[in-house]
Amino acid sequence: MTKICCIGAGYVGGPTMAMIAKKCPDVQVTVVDINASRIAAWQTDDLPIYEPGLDEVVKEALGRNLFFSTEVDQAIIDADIVFVSVNTPTKTFGEGAGFASDLQYWELCARRIKEVSTTDKIIVEKSTLPVRTAEAMERVLHSGDNPVHFEVLSNPEFLAEGTAIADLENPDRVLIGGHETPSGQKALQTLVDIYATWIPRERILTANVWSAELSKLTANAFLAQRVSSINAISALCEATEADVGEVAHSIGTDSRIGSRFLKASIGFGGSCFKKDILNLVYLCESYGLQEPADYWRQVVIMNEYQETRFVTNMLHNMFNTIAGKRIAIFGFAFKADTGDTRESPAIKVCRKLVGEHAKVVVSDPKAIENAKLEMPDLLDQIDFEKDPYAAAEGAHAVAILTDWKEYKELDYQRIYDSMAKPAFIFDGRNMLDHQALFEIGFEVYSIGKGLKTHLK
Ligand code: UDX
Ligand code: ADP
Repeated sequence: MTKICCIGAGYVGGPTMAMIAKKCPDVQVTVVDINASRIAAWQTDDLPIYEPGLDEVVKEALGRNLFFSTEVDQAIIDADIVFVSVNTPTKTFGEGAGFASDLQYWELCARRIKEVSTTDKIIVEKSTLPVRTAEAMERVLHSGDNPVHFEVLSNPEFLAEGTAIADLENPDRVLIGGHETPSGQKALQTLVDIYATWIPRERILTANVWSAELSKLTANAFLAQRVSSINAISALCEATEADVGEVAHSIGTDSRIGSRFLKASIGFGGSCFKKDILNLVYLCESYGLQEPADYWRQVVIMNEYQETRFVTNMLHNMFNTIAGKRIAIFGFAFKADTGDTRESPAIKVCRKLVGEHAKVVVSDPKAIENAKLEMPDLLDQIDFEKDPYAAAEGAHAVAILTDWKEYKELDYQRIYDSMAKPAFIFDGRNMLDHQALFEIGFEVYSIGKGLKTHLK
């Protein structure tokens, strides 16, 4: 029986391993983490992450061929294949601070694997890593006189949060990078065979390790660039009375451009986009490629502009003062269908509103706990209220920051009646029926359309 160990039971490791276990009943999958409460939670009905459909997948395999454990060493010793799926945040210190990936967790894992292994293993990079990390890892793994052979593969994860289960079940593609040596190709084939259990072979792409590593960064940079591109146009739309929704629709029907990832918003968030682009910028710079570095850096600068612009618009439209005004934030997660708040634009928006002395009330169906963790210094200045109606009561403005579908279905007449007047709605996700809101009496601001006002 093939035995897999996955180090890191987070947003990537947990769902990915649960899917492999579900689809391959004859493979034993053990997910380990140093975070004991996370490991405990994976074995309850209250999983540590919210992801639609994940509960059923875990339930089906848990205890059969899917195990969660804090016994990291034992799981490594037993495994034929070790996936490394630990966090690789942006470095906050030293060389490359603010840009480069912090590889300390990854390297600790490599050292641990080297230390305890007594048999040959395939090591799979699942975490997003800078190009040529595999080379450094191989040096760590093979240092000293260890007779054990490790073959490093890169198998970047393309799942998006909120749709992780569908993405894992039916991916556009799976990418596996391996060395062009006989042992590299043999390892690559072993992993291809696992995925081929449920994914058509033609969707399993193979490449060299460096291409696979770079493809992950490039995919995220291209996706983020589309969001920044349409957001750049949204500012121009507001200045010219063009409608960003109409522009996005028109260009999206060009099959060369395509319709997805053209939704203007308060900006992209999530654990990947910003981190991966900064990582790409750092890589370009470290190879002396200043213009490519500047080109990609602009995608992040544009995103920060969009977040800031949203708050500035709130302030200007609300008569240049929001001090003492209650503002209800609808949605704190970085996107719908997740409780994840990493790099959520809501963090910056809330901080700036508090900076203007507004009374901020945060509402979200799944992300209140994480929202508190993002703003530990502001807990005495921000209220948290799960019920959006209660959050909006007495507020001067509602700001929609996450595209939760429940926000489409609220009774906005009821919300309007309970608010201070004039009542503003700032739709940071362009998801509501703006004409209907305007007819209720709201002052309605939306991205790339500007303010519809009753006040002249
Ligand atoms: C992303 C990639 O899609 C995925 O392939 C990769 O593995 C990890 O990074 P994720 O961060 O989970 O996934 O979410 P994604 O759906 O890509 O959205 C990222 C951000 O962009 C969100 O804040 C979202 O609201 C925003 N976005 C997305 C827009 O503002 N407009 C769009 O049109 C699309
Ligand atoms: P991602 O979104 O990439 O999955 P997460 O932060 O959700 O990132 O998950 C990474 C997990 O890796 C965390 O639960 C963390 O505790 C775990 N982790 C980090 N370093 C180690 C390590 N050396 N051994 C085991 N687990 C680790």
